[in-house]
Amino acid sequence: MTDQQIIQFKNVTKQFGDDQPVLNEVSFEIERGKFYTLLGPSGCGKTTILRLIAGFMEPTSGEIYFDGKLCNHIPANKRQVNTVFQDYALFPHLNVFENVAFGLRIKKLKNKVIEEKVRQALSFVNLGGYEHREIKEMSGGQRQRVAIARAIVNEPEVILLDEPLSALDLKLRTQMQYELRQLQRRLGITFIFVTHDQEEALAMSDEIFVLNKGKIQQSGTPIDIYDEPINRFVADFIGESNIVKGTMIEDFRVAFVGQQFECVDQGMNKNEPIEIVIRPEDLAITSQEKGKLKVTVVSQLFRGVHYEIIGQDAAGNEWLVHSTKKAQVGDQIGLDFEPEAIHVMRFGESEEDFDRRLEAYAEDDERE
Ligand SMILES: Nc1ncnc2c1ncn2[C@@H]1O[C@H](COP(=O)(O)OP(=O)(O)OP(=O)(O)O)[C@@H](O)[C@H]1O
Ligand SMILES: [Mg+2]
Repeated sequence: MTDQQIIQFKNVTKQFGDDQPVLNEVSFEIERGKFYTLLGPSGCGKTTILRLIAGFMEPTSGEIYFDGKLCNHIPANKRQVNTVFQDYALFPHLNVFENVAFGLRIKKLKNKVIEEKVRQALSFVNLGGYEHREIKEMSGGQRQRVAIARAIVNEPEVILLDEPLSALDLKLRTQMQYELRQLQRRLGITFIFVTHDQEEALAMSDEIFVLNKGKIQQSGTPIDIYDEPINRFVADFIGESNIVKGTMIEDFRVAFVGQQFECVDQGMNKNEPIEIVIRPEDLAITSQEKGKLKVTVVSQLFRGVHYEIIGQDAAGNEWLVHSTKKAQVGDQIGLDFEPEAIHVMRFGESEEDFDRRLEAYAEDDERE
């Protein structure tokens, strides 16, 4: 473990009764001062991970370390962690000041110190001057900020945020995403943020853990995960994608929809069955003669910045295209793409094997 590391999960399993485990041998490391996001569909175990970190429950097996010390049995109030809950869990009978001051009063700090700290926390979230407001007089976005002020005022090492923006409208949500990210940078505290919204995860995080069915499917920076999804679940969950089955003929050569294409992937077996992903923004509309794929337009929607066009090829595969060019339903068009646009995924490849394969590419590149 390095100094940078603050939390570590080692083969953590959580099971309720005889049900399928909710978390199944989950391992990851969290470094100090970064913004992490747990991303995954409803029921995949995101809140369970936060509850284990906060100390609201214990794992069935495996180890959780905080600052290098085993903390499986350490109670919540002894951990350097504060949680911002989805419903904010503010005290309706206390005003803004007292909501934020609550934890400090329990610690029996002097009034003067409390006053200073609360004012500072409120000014951090742009709520200076709102001290005496009742909670019911605050808007959704303001309540959200009170909840954050209440977490940061305790100066924890880690703040856990469980879908804190889901109740806000789109505009406020985007603004709060920006503010939260700024706040995290200014404070330098580790944030672990939960969402099932992939755009939110991509916009905010230093690192994302993509979860499904109690397992981490992939972890990495937003760009890593968007550009190099390791399996169909991740490709499908992060952004829109075209996914079809194919065959890896040899290094740099792949076949799908009955044709062969140049690609940039290597290190697989000859004629290995694979799946490929092409992002809709990597497909360009051209004439049928020039296109690598020939499709008939079956639908078109205007999305504000681009058209969302669906074309069907002769085999019946549908190809989603994001383009600033228009097309008409029924048009016969060609779709062009670069070799880099094809992302090849092996069936059932683990994250470790995937990383090993990428490292091997990098070493090959260095040798060249
Ligand atoms: N105390 C409990 N007893 C039994 N099952 C539980 C308990 N807590 C959670 N679960 C189950 O564990 C699974 C994961 O729950 P969790 O709350 O971690 O999901 P989540 O990823 O946060 O989902 P959401 O996005 O809907 O909040 C669910 O199937 C849930 O029903
Ligand atoms: Mg949850």
